[in-house]
Amino acid sequence: MTNKIHWGILGLGKIAHKFARDLALVSSAELTAVASSSKERALAFAQTHGATVAYGDYSSLYQDEKVEVIYIAGVHTDHHAHSCAALAAGKAVLCEKPLGINAREVKEMIALAQGNNVFFMEALWSRFNPALRALKIEVEDEKIGDLRHIQASFSMARLDEDPDGRILNTALGGGSLLDIGIYPVFLAYFFLGMPEEIIAKAHFNAQGTEIQTSIIFHYPQAQAQLYSGLAHPLKMEAKLFGTTGEATIHPIWHETESFTLNAAGQETTATHPKQGLGYVHEIQEVHFCLKENQKESSLWSHRDSLNLISLLDEIREKAGIRFPQES
Ligand SMILES: NC(=O)c1ccc[n+]([C@@H]2O[C@H](COP(=O)([O-])OP(=O)(O)OC[C@H]3O[C@@H](n4cnc5c(N)ncnc54)[C@H](OP(=O)(O)O)[C@@H]3O)[C@@H](O)[C@H]2O)c1
Repeated sequence: MTNKIHWGILGLGKIAHKFARDLALVSSAELTAVASSSKERALAFAQTHGATVAYGDYSSLYQDEKVEVIYIAGVHTDHHAHSCAALAAGKAVLCEKPLGINAREVKEMIALAQGNNVFFMEALWSRFNPALRALKIEVEDEKIGDLRHIQASFSMARLDEDPDGRILNTALGGGSLLDIGIYPVFLAYFFLGMPEEIIAKAHFNAQGTEIQTSIIFHYPQAQAQLYSGLAHPLKMEAKLFGTTGEATIHPIWHETESFTLNAAGQETTATHPKQGLGYVHEIQEVHFCLKENQKESSLWSHRDSLNLISLLDEIREKAGIRFPQES
């Protein structure tokens, strides 16, 4: 007998490969089974990452008695169905961001997890990033005074993606907002909480997919300027401004390893290396919760996931970003 936690991975695309690489760095984790809509892809993935079993369908993974926790890594629009099926089968679930495409989906997923008394968490990996966690402590200690302003953007040049693929296809929740805009929205939420008002404006491509969105979060005593887009690359630095100083989160800010504080005439840079590609930290949180018999993370709770998707819903409403399955 081992004390290992037995993982399954569902949806074997780009992020699943990165995640499996980091799972291999966690000594208490075992990759037991993987599942894809393609048996061929499952076999190749299992061989690359050392999984014992490769399924060419998803239901076999839900029924695999050895698997304790399933990492859901399909496209946004499948997160709800895949997570619900896994949770209904009694599996713990770590589901990629965004947890669902809207708050209605996320509420249903959380209700199912809570009703079945099984662990459920959104794989919002930046929440577990060591440097961002350290910066949060500095800001709470008022090292830059009262936090008054955040500037955070996430943009890449992806306009030439396959129009039917998950990045640009609205039927798959495509557009910048749910894929990468979620990170600046997360950062504002992480440091400032829920805003009292949101202003948002978007540009769309010829096929009606949102490709640029500017957002203002208005708080009683602060504002956040957020941006996400698929039209151009960006330096990927984020900034926090307080009444007595500022913090710069170094590129690539949502997976950073360092930040610089400029306060009281002094500049200090703190470095907090991440383990592996950075997914190790969310995996360790899942293991901690499972070992402690906690059904949700206290660091990224069900309420946090619901708040985050509610913010994204409101931005979409303000900016006129719609998905066909919602009309
Ligand atoms: N945390 C992070 O750093 C990070 C980074 C990238 C992406 N993500 C998230 O991870 C999820 C997957 O992203 P990815 O870049 O890995 O995607 P991807 O490589 O395009 O596809 C992932 C998997 O989704 C399924 N799939 C692909 N196209 C589909 C379609 N048209 N209809 C139904 N299923 C389809 C396939 O599963 P099968 O193998 O079963 O066929 C595919 O292997 C997204 O929700 C994204 O937000 C997170």
